[in-house]
Amino acid sequence: MEQKLRVKRYDPENPGAAGYQDYTVEVTDTTTVLDALLTIREDMDGTLSMRCSCRASICGSCAMRVDGQAKLVCKTRISSVAPNGETVTIDPVGNMPVIKDLVVEFKPFWDKMRAVTPYLQPEGDVPKAEYFASDEDMVHLVGVVNCIQCGACVSDCTVLEVDDSFLGPAALAKAYRFVKDPRDGHQKDRLEDLNKPSGVWDCTRCMQCVEVCPKDVDPMGRIMVMRDMAMETGFNNTSGSRHTESFAKSVKKNGRLDEMKLAVDSMGKFNIPALLDSAPVGLRAMRKGKFPWKGHKSSEPDKVKQVFEKIEGK
Ligand code: FES
Repeated sequence: MEQKLRVKRYDPENPGAAGYQDYTVEVTDTTTVLDALLTIREDMDGTLSMRCSCRASICGSCAMRVDGQAKLVCKTRISSVAPNGETVTIDPVGNMPVIKDLVVEFKPFWDKMRAVTPYLQPEGDVPKAEYFASDEDMVHLVGVVNCIQCGACVSDCTVLEVDDSFLGPAALAKAYRFVKDPRDGHQKDRLEDLNKPSGVWDCTRCMQCVEVCPKDVDPMGRIMVMRDMAMETGFNNTSGSRHTESFAKSVKKNGRLDEMKLAVDSMGKFNIPALLDSAPVGLRAMRKGKFPWKGHKSSEPDKVKQVFEKIEGK
């Protein structure tokens, strides 16, 4: 059957002509998006640029946005995204500069990977034989080691869309792989670095990275674990950790979140410049009823307290 594809084109030598180009290709139920793109490139339009290699979800080079969501196109059948023959739209992955058509510049991605010191730093004497690690620890790490660094999570990260200094889900998942490795001797230093601005506290938990990861690496879950680890290690004096503590305290006390107190606690009571800076946002939120003067109270605060007591094992 015939299938229509709208493919994003961009030529750096003629940037003004950027836009979508339509192609119609012959497909079957098992044709992947990559198969269709290769048909276009080989038989219809040799000027189309894209990256791919293994065609088996291993190399990670074929990540693109299919109908707005990052996917490995070699793993994505046309029939799964367009079951009724709808037009399929292909864009390059997001949050990275486009070089040509569907090819993006991965330098920012690799720079962030390098920034988390992506190698083991054992402490103490070098052992006479191999480093020992329990099966349990290593099996746990397989989940993150499975990352093929395709950039799908980075593409759809909503924080990177507005702040490109954020380390991002791929680099933070890589950081987790070493923070949790029993053979590494620099866990505390790593957590200290990750606790700084642009680190673990900048994730907004939108879940996009979890949703699009083709290998179920769960970057957001790993980031949350590192937040807990950082706090348990004693790194409590960040707006992120104060935010977490204030959030839990407020809900435990009133059964509801006190947004006003949360904002003040997160920034720091005596951080006058930050408080003044956020005053316009606060006023707008107040006008919209986010900060009611009388505060939020749950109608059944005792029930919320019981939930906390259960979690805390009292
Ligand atoms: Fe290698 Fe798709 S071509 S992962």
